[in-house]
Amino acid sequence: MSDPAASPEKLHADQVAFWRGEGGALWLDRDARIESRLKPLGEHALRAAAARPGERAIDIGCGLGHTTLALARSVGPTGHVLGADLSPDMIAEASRRAASAGLAHARFAAADASTHDFGPEAADLLFSRFGVMFFGHPEAAFANLRRGLKPGGRVTLLVWRPVKENGWMFVPFMAAIPHLPPMPRPNQGDPGPFSLSDPDRARRVLGAAGFVDVNLDRVDDTMSLSDGPLEDAVRTAIDMGPLARPLRQADEATRARVADAIQSALAKHLTAEGVRLPAACWLLTARNRG
Ligand SMILES: C[S@@+](CC[C@H](N)C(=O)[O-])C[C@H]1O[C@@H](n2cnc3c(N)ncnc32)[C@H](O)[C@@H]1O
Repeated sequence: MSDPAASPEKLHADQVAFWRGEGGALWLDRDARIESRLKPLGEHALRAAAARPGERAIDIGCGLGHTTLALARSVGPTGHVLGADLSPDMIAEASRRAASAGLAHARFAAADASTHDFGPEAADLLFSRFGVMFFGHPEAAFANLRRGLKPGGRVTLLVWRPVKENGWMFVPFMAAIPHLPPMPRPNQGDPGPFSLSDPDRARRVLGAAGFVDVNLDRVDDTMSLSDGPLEDAVRTAIDMGPLARPLRQADEATRARVADAIQSALAKHLTAEGVRLPAACWLLTARNRG
């Protein structure tokens, strides 16, 4: 079941409300757990971005600023990094962390990156780790982002490939489905974690926004859902995947049934190193036309 009635504006507004509200609160609360899972994937993108001393970078949907601070270390004090995110609470915490790390050249803006004025042609690098899939009008949003990039400036984005290739989300999701009321199925390309998972669509969106040399490389890794008890893996799978929202709306008994079902499903993937499942991303690179 999909929701053909929802306009791009409504879908975008939903994302803004989610990330400014419960989504941002959840990421703040579970930061250490989430970051330890995402960091190894983000390293692929940071390596590919290869930020150099003196460069200016923009980190889109920067959340708590982990990658913003990593970029700030690479560009050094002669460079500059701007982290932009919808969530004022995450931005406030990211700013605190930059200050306490002595990285004054990392700045942050609580802003909707799809419309925020990043200033003309200021950046050498547009970067994001999982922060650019939530735009209602992605072509317009990427065109706006491009205006903040120098001619010839480069783009490095990490986005999810389809959910079926991401066992860390797919296994818990399929285990939970029988216990939840029918959920609206997103239309292909709707804002959400998988909106750029189709490579043709990703190329089309970036091309329409004026980027050239759009390229997608596969990143195939594994995600460790927990090094400890299975209950931890269940928590992580729920917090980080598409189940977080429906489960917050469910009653206590449903939540317990879903947690049991996920635990049984994850038990089949328990190894000596905890629960590890496939994590599949696109490393999307492009350039602003020169
Ligand atoms: C999946 S989280 C990733 C956060 C961070 N990049 C990380 O890897 O830890 C997605 C982030 O994108 C942000 N986001 C979503 N839509 C955005 C928009 N239109 N403008 C700015 N930030 C946005 C959310 O607030 C959220 O922090």
